Amino acid sequence: MSFSDLHQHLTNSVSRSKSAPLPAWISTRMDTHFIDRMGTLWGGDHLLHGRTPGPDALHLSSNDYLCLLGEAPLVQAQARALLDEQPELLMSSVFRHGDTPQQRVERKLAALMQAEDGLIAQSGWAANVGLVQCIAGPGVPVYIDTNGHASLWEGISAAGATAVPVRHNDFGHAARQIERNGPGVIMVDSVYSTTGSVAPIRDFVEVAERSGSVLVVDESHALGTHGPSGGGLVPELGLSERVHFRTASLAKAFAGRAGFVTCSTAFKDFFAVEARPAIFSSGLLRHEIAWFDAATDFIAAADDRRADLHAITRHTRTAIAELGYNISDGSEQIIGLEAGTEPQVMVLRDALQRRGIFGAVFCSPATPKNRALMRLTLHAKLAASDIDRLISVLAEIRDEVRLAEWSSTRRAHRVPRNTQPASRGKDEQQH
Ligand SMILES: Cc1ncc(COP(=O)(O)O)c(C=O)c1O
Repeated sequence: MSFSDLHQHLTNSVSRSKSAPLPAWISTRMDTHFIDRMGTLWGGDHLLHGRTPGPDALHLSSNDYLCLLGEAPLVQAQARALLDEQPELLMSSVFRHGDTPQQRVERKLAALMQAEDGLIAQSGWAANVGLVQCIAGPGVPVYIDTNGHASLWEGISAAGATAVPVRHNDFGHAARQIERNGPGVIMVDSVYSTTGSVAPIRDFVEVAERSGSVLVVDESHALGTHGPSGGGLVPELGLSERVHFRTASLAKAFAGRAGFVTCSTAFKDFFAVEARPAIFSSGLLRHEIAWFDAATDFIAAADDRRADLHAITRHTRTAIAELGYNISDGSEQIIGLEAGTEPQVMVLRDALQRRGIFGAVFCSPATPKNRALMRLTLHAKLAASDIDRLISVLAEIRDEVRLAEWSSTRRAHRVPRNTQPASRGKDEQQH
């Protein structure tokens, strides 16, 4: 859609609108999106949409890393729960107690993660916001990795606590910030959701223990895919008893719609009456709980799929790196092709989609401005021919997408500061 088409479309929809007119403080913000960003920067296109995938599309955008969706034992467990004629109560989980199916699944999931106990929230977002609200508050510094998930940042605002950003994966920086501001809460993701980078969890545990701080690890992208029986990276490192809280979205490898927090049984009772998402938003339905019950068994027994996913990840990452794409920030099943500006990532999106490859565009606020990227997520059932297809497309499009000019490519070739020649030009110094 051209800019004038877009403008016409917007004008028509305003004149047809049955909605009450909005005041300027809202309509000006909407104009910033529709006119400045979508109309001017994106040329009338929507950066996050693009083409409709055809039947032969290769989808590399799902978080169903172990391909659980559609698995018969899970679907059957959910169908049985839907057809169960026992009465079901729609209410917030603060009212639920006793030996309910939800409590049993919570204990089962906690056992998988080698934790004392745990609680199911409505989403990974609700789990993080609710947890941070319970453990932080005004005057409590929260040391958060700059790449930490948005829901953790949201929890800090909801708690009224003070965010102290920590450079990505820099536990030394966290230690220095704690020396300056005092002990508080440290928050990291175990596997980061835009580049697949892994946190140095052991080092963060040591910083937390030395400083008397509380450590929270978001295991959303490692639960199910990493660790013994899929219990996550924390148990893989033998740190289950040294990390205070682990959270996870169950909308990744568990392929459902919920979130989880590992904690003590006493804390779980506290969360139920303290976390606003637990009090003021209704809990899961029986068929959703039934899915997670079956999914936990399935995942515990899925060593073969985990091994396949890791082998596919190693092979694909090596091949992409050999083509000159700088994906060295990460090592896991999430691969970020950082083109840089939004128009640059749009060129990449189009080049891939024209050849039937569909990833997910990530831009501000999910990435820093001008570090927009195409995220490709791998899964356990990718065939060798799928990976060959991806690699040959990535080889073919390098000039078309101007790979040499990407921010990530320039970063890979940047000379470390202390080895730079003394007389450099102004422009070069800005790199
Ligand atoms: C690291 C991380 N934490 C939390 C969430 C939120 O999870 P959900 O989609 O279940 O709300 C996500 C999802 O994007 C995530 O990637």
